[in-house]
Amino acid sequence: MGSRIVGTGRALPRTRLVNQDLESRLDTSDEWIRSRTGIEQRYVLTNGESLVDIAAEASRTALSRAGLKPSDLEAIVVGTVSSDFGFPSFACQLQDRLGITDIPAFDLAAACSGFIYALSVADASMRSGDWKRVLVVGADALSTMVDWNDRRTAVLFGDGAGACVLVTEPGPRGVLGSLLRSAGQHWNLLSVRNSAGTRCTYDSEVRRTADEGIQMRGPELFRIAVRSMEEVTRRVVEKAGVRLEDVALILPHQANARIINAVADRLGLSADKVFLNVGRYGNTSAASVPIALDEALEANRIHDNDLVLLNACGGGLTWGANLVRW
Ligand code: ACO
Repeated sequence: MGSRIVGTGRALPRTRLVNQDLESRLDTSDEWIRSRTGIEQRYVLTNGESLVDIAAEASRTALSRAGLKPSDLEAIVVGTVSSDFGFPSFACQLQDRLGITDIPAFDLAAACSGFIYALSVADASMRSGDWKRVLVVGADALSTMVDWNDRRTAVLFGDGAGACVLVTEPGPRGVLGSLLRSAGQHWNLLSVRNSAGTRCTYDSEVRRTADEGIQMRGPELFRIAVRSMEEVTRRVVEKAGVRLEDVALILPHQANARIINAVADRLGLSADKVFLNVGRYGNTSAASVPIALDEALEANRIHDNDLVLLNACGGGLTWGANLVRW
C-alpha cells in the first residue's frame, strides 16, 4: 500500500516585488538579477500578513481538489524553517487554522529541501499503515530573514506556501521512493540566526542587522547544489528500478535558473523535461517544489501514469528527491 497525491494547492503573499523595485533600495540591477539567477519578481510578506494563513489557504485548495475536508486528515507534516515561534510548531498553528484537532502535526526543518523531506516521511508512515490521509505542506518566508542592505542575498528570496494531500492507495501509482541526504559539515554555507521569526518583513521598521540576516557563501553553494541534485536524481531513479529517460518531468527546487540548467545539462535532459518558474517567485525555499508541482498540473504538464521527479538542495546542507508515478 503506497501513498498518492490527490490534490495540490499554492498561495502567495499579496505584495509582488519586481526587480526594478529592488533597484531603488539596493545597489543592484534588473539585468544582474535576471542574468545571474533568472529571477524577475517575487512575492513577499508584508507587515501584518501571516505565513500560517497563506499555508492554510494553499491547504484548503489542496483539500478541496482532493474532495476531502480538514476533518478527514490523519496527520499534517510541514517542511518549514519559518515558524514565528521556537514552539509550538508551524504545523500545530496550521492545524488550528484548519479547525482540526487530535491528529499528529509536526514540522521538518530541512530548509529548501523541507518539502522533499516531509513528503518522504509522510509516505514512509503511510506505507507502514500509520495514516491514510495526510496533508504535506512546504511554507517559508526567507524574505523576512535577509539583511535588506545585503544585495548578495536580498534579491534571491520570495515567500509562499504549497500543499499536497496524500491518500493511501494500492496499485502502481503514487510515491515510488525517496532519497534524503545531509552534509552537516557545510552548515555554514547558508545559515540564519533564529531570532525574529517572520516579523522583519520588507516594509517593517523592525530590521535584521547584517549578523542576524541570512549568511550565504553563494559560489560554493552553487557548485555543491549542482553536484548533489545530479547525484540524488540519478540515485532515486536507480533505486526505483526505472530509467532517467523514462521520467516525464523534473520539478527541481527553484533557487536559480543557472543551477537548474546546469543540473539538466549534466543529466542530459532537454529543457522541456525540466519545470522552471523561478522567474515568477524567486527562491521560496521549502515552498518552491509544491508550488512548481501545482503550477505544472495547472499547465497540463503532468498526465496520468507519468513519472515525475522532485528534487532539492538547501541549507544544512540537505538534499533529496522523491520519485512519483502520477
Ligand atoms: N546585484 C549586483 N551585483 C551583485 C549582486 C546583486 N544583487 N549580488 C552580488 N553582486 C556582485 C558581487 O558583489 C560581486 O561583485 P565583485 O566581483 O565586485 O565582488 C559580483 O556580483 C559577483 O558575485 P558572485 O557572488 O561571484 O556572483 P555569482 O555569479 O556567483 O552569482 C549567486 C551569485 C547568484 C548568489 C550564485 O552564487 C548562486 O546562485 N549561488 C547559489 C545560491 C543560492 O541559490 N542560494 C539559495 C539557497 S541554496 C539553494 O537553494 C540551492
